[in-house]
Amino acid sequence: MNMVELIIKKREGKELSQQEIEKFIQQYIKDEIEDYQVSALLMAICFQGLNQRETADLTMAMVNSGDQMNLEMIPGVKVDKHSTGGVADTTTLILAPLVASCGVPVMKMSGRGLGFTGGTLDKLEAIPGFNPYQSMEKAIQNVQDIGIAIIGQTHNMVPADKKLYALRDVTGTVDQLSLIASSIMSKKIASGADGIVLDVKVGSGAFMNTEEQAFALAKEMVQIGKNVGRKTVAIITDMNQPLGMAVGNALEVKEAIQVLRGEVEGPLKEVSLLLGSHMLHIGGYVSSLEEGKQKLEENIQNGKGALKLADLIRLQGGDERVITDYTLLPQSKEIIPFLAQQDGYISSMKAQEIGKSSMLLGAGRMTMEDIIDPAVGLVMKKRVGDPIRKGEVIAEFYVNKKEHIKEAMSVFERALHIQKEAPPLSPYIHGMVTGEDIK
Ligand code: URA
Ligand code: CA
Repeated sequence: MNMVELIIKKREGKELSQQEIEKFIQQYIKDEIEDYQVSALLMAICFQGLNQRETADLTMAMVNSGDQMNLEMIPGVKVDKHSTGGVADTTTLILAPLVASCGVPVMKMSGRGLGFTGGTLDKLEAIPGFNPYQSMEKAIQNVQDIGIAIIGQTHNMVPADKKLYALRDVTGTVDQLSLIASSIMSKKIASGADGIVLDVKVGSGAFMNTEEQAFALAKEMVQIGKNVGRKTVAIITDMNQPLGMAVGNALEVKEAIQVLRGEVEGPLKEVSLLLGSHMLHIGGYVSSLEEGKQKLEENIQNGKGALKLADLIRLQGGDERVITDYTLLPQSKEIIPFLAQQDGYISSMKAQEIGKSSMLLGAGRMTMEDIIDPAVGLVMKKRVGDPIRKGEVIAEFYVNKKEHIKEAMSVFERALHIQKEAPPLSPYIHGMVTGEDIK
């Protein structure tokens, strides 16, 4: 294949054929094409775009670039969930066991956190003994035995995305909808999902800052799902402030368990139940979202969801007693309150800065080599819209290393805005996109 011709073709706004896209991906992962040529092609794509067919072909070419999970041994429709990334978002820890407790098989591959806060794997590893690295055979066996496994990604899944993403990162070509959508969808498809529920975050703390961008990304991904035969729905949820109250690995595990046990209400629970009911619905396990939500709520109230999380923890080597005894989770040496300096209403709590504040305490990574301290982080005591009085506790900082606290607190302070009048509230849920919303 002549790469120069391919670059010029896209530069001139012409369509690439399926064979061209496939060959490009295959040769690239074998190092037969130079990074500088791929960079030029990516930049041409940024300017000219990819149409629906090209985007679907790129997605499947990436899926075919490495190993794919074969989940045929697990009976039933396999539905996966993906979030574009938020702060205090433990929806996976809540909905995976809840959905599994409704009899739906859940085989979840999760990642670690880049950016400021831990990913699902980092959070699970805060549970003493928990091991996310199970062989594929063992993970499938676990799903057959108890209906759920949450494991780390295997090395050779979608290698084309790993290579392309690293290159996009350093060539100013990350922000292109077809490239983002194909990157995300290829990983879900390769991990064996028949159906995919997407949580696209919108707001100051999200990859997509405006509703318009978030809906556009949601449509792009739902469109790919439709074109490659995977039922896909997306909900657009708010990330102008953290979803839950806890930011930090063990603290988030505790909050997730509290939601699962019915001890905590609020947006984290609402979004988890909505995502979970979409999973039940597109999997064909319920006939309406309402029915799905009702089943999930039932399994919170009767304790089945929490028991399922205990099963998961036990089968992956962890201490399942954390479900009833939160003191078995890693504890920080100190808890330091952050106090309000004035009376008023909280008008914003910027999610990204709050994530950064928690990272500075040791809860997240600056680089992939950094080691996370599972015990540290912060717990918000207030949300946007709450009235506060001078001297009231706005958040508690869970600290192990005193030298981190000053900077963490000043970043937190910058995340926070307080005004005299009650502010307007943005909704948790901004909307949804289903296959029917797509041409
Ligand atoms: N997340 C991904 O997995 N891929 C992208 O391209 C952007 C965000
Ligand atoms: Ca952004």
